[in-house]
Amino acid sequence: MAITIALANRKGGSGKTTTALNLADGLALAGQRVLLVDADSQAQATSGCGILPYNLEMSIYELLHLVAQDRLSDEMIRETLIKTQNFDLLPSKPDLSALELEASQIDNRESLLRTLLLEIEKDYDYILIDLPPSLGLITVNGLVAAKWLLIPIELTFLSMDGLAQMMGILYRINAELNTSLRLLGILPVKCDLRTNLARNVIEEVRQNFGESRILPTVRNDIKLAEAPSFGKSIFEYAPQCRGAQDYQQLTNVILARSE
Ligand SMILES: Nc1ncnc2c1ncn2[C@@H]1O[C@H](COP(=O)(O)OP(=O)(O)O)[C@@H](O)[C@H]1O
Ligand SMILES: [Mg+2]
Repeated sequence: MAITIALANRKGGSGKTTTALNLADGLALAGQRVLLVDADSQAQATSGCGILPYNLEMSIYELLHLVAQDRLSDEMIRETLIKTQNFDLLPSKPDLSALELEASQIDNRESLLRTLLLEIEKDYDYILIDLPPSLGLITVNGLVAAKWLLIPIELTFLSMDGLAQMMGILYRINAELNTSLRLLGILPVKCDLRTNLARNVIEEVRQNFGESRILPTVRNDIKLAEAPSFGKSIFEYAPQCRGAQDYQQLTNVILARSE
């Protein structure tokens, strides 16, 4: 069965998409069969794979609608998944933002993505779900479909509020919709540990959550911001840079933990 990891944080710009893209490629380069699910209507994971979201006929949006209508078929899934160089992508497009309203009357609206992934998880070792910066229906779908929650954060004091909120969401999802969701870890990104602020915040995270919950940090590296505009992961774009080293280390830890 696939190991399903949702990347969530209601704060935008906290490194969810960057982590999803590079962890997907890191795991794939380590020989794992990987599916990256773009569940954000901004479709930045899709464009980061070099796919133009606007022209897509099929995307996660259409598949979730088919699930809601009980009309999902293998053929539709095959038509939607895109094989990138090393892993498969379930792409997104801006239409996805309408789902929230359109699905408001459906009984099982929180488990549409779980139902969809049940059909395809046998083909993968890892499924990564890149979520939007909100706590709406799509994020709930991601957390209901996943076994693990990975929270990337920037090391600012505001991010501690965001982290507390995410933990509240985790408890609620555990209580109401998905008892098996667990915190995989908190991933500090865009780190400059030379600054007092970053060191203080990481210390606060450590005190609140414990050392074992903190994943190896990803340093600030402009190459990580450049790579998606070439449709490349950091391992293809700049394999020697520190961003690549940091995401390689993260990949190794995730592989070791899930063995
Ligand atoms: N370690 C890093 N160093 C430098 N820039 C980064 C790093 N991680 C992410 N970024 C940049 O920060 C911005 C927000 O990151 P992104 O992954 O899109 O966050 P989110 O998906 O949470 O909104 C993007 O422009 C991205 O390229
Ligand atoms: Mg994003």
